[in-house]
Amino acid sequence: MKLVLLGPPGAGKGTQANFITAKYSIPQISTGDILRSAIKRGTSMGLEAEVYMKAGKLVPDDVIIGVVKNRISEDDCKNGFLFDGFPRTIPQAEELLKEGIFLDFIIEIKVPRTEIIKRLSGRRIHPASGRSYHVTLNPPKVENKDDITGENLIQRDDDKKDTIIKRLDVYTLETSQLAGFYENMSEPSKLAKSPTYLKIDGLGRVESVREKIFTGLNKNHKD
Ligand code: AP5
Repeated sequence: MKLVLLGPPGAGKGTQANFITAKYSIPQISTGDILRSAIKRGTSMGLEAEVYMKAGKLVPDDVIIGVVKNRISEDDCKNGFLFDGFPRTIPQAEELLKEGIFLDFIIEIKVPRTEIIKRLSGRRIHPASGRSYHVTLNPPKVENKDDITGENLIQRDDDKKDTIIKRLDVYTLETSQLAGFYENMSEPSKLAKSPTYLKIDGLGRVESVREKIFTGLNKNHKD
């Protein structure tokens, strides 16, 4: 099972990724999490990426493509994976095709801009696992503590209002075209191994969004 979660910052990709990866026993590949981990470790790639991420810009395609190729060559990706935050540009999507990687599902989560600003400004994350919460909309069981480990939650550097607006603008300018790219490709006549495109309304409770995604996956999954 190979899937892509598409959608603007704060659409709930990371939140829903947890449910999907548990259902299919596949790893979540979040390019954002990989980059944040590289920054924390102070690697040269991390230092390069940090400048772009702090400004709310996209990290260059060649850096991202290298990161993803490395990750999917690991053993746990043999039975599939879920991409969260990748691809984000047409060249990134084309690189997957060049590598002969065919996707089963593209899941686009749609959420309006005003809701996104509310979600991201109240988001808190558990840095070690990437689990994400919201102070009021999706709170942890104990205030500011991760549900599983009990460790402290933090606010991401790029979840400040100015950077959120910049990230949303970058999404509209550079990433939203991917929806058309994949929708076009998923028309049955275009490509033999074409992905199924699911458009999901991301408004509503976390559990109700999860149900909408699972309904779409169950209905269209070919074994
Ligand atoms: P990345 O880490 O991928 O961030 P993003 O795409 O901006 O997405 P987010 O993680 O902000 O949002 P999400 O959709 O996962 O939402 P979440 O589930 O947390 O990328 C960060 C940066 O890295 C980029 O800006 C770029 O610089 C770089 N980068 C990464 N990949 C790249 C690539 N491929 N190419 C180039 N550069 C790249 O939910 C958000 C909040 O809402 C949470 O608080 C959550 O609890 C809450 N919430 C979720 N669902 C609901 C719901 N249904 N109702 C109410 N609240 C909800």
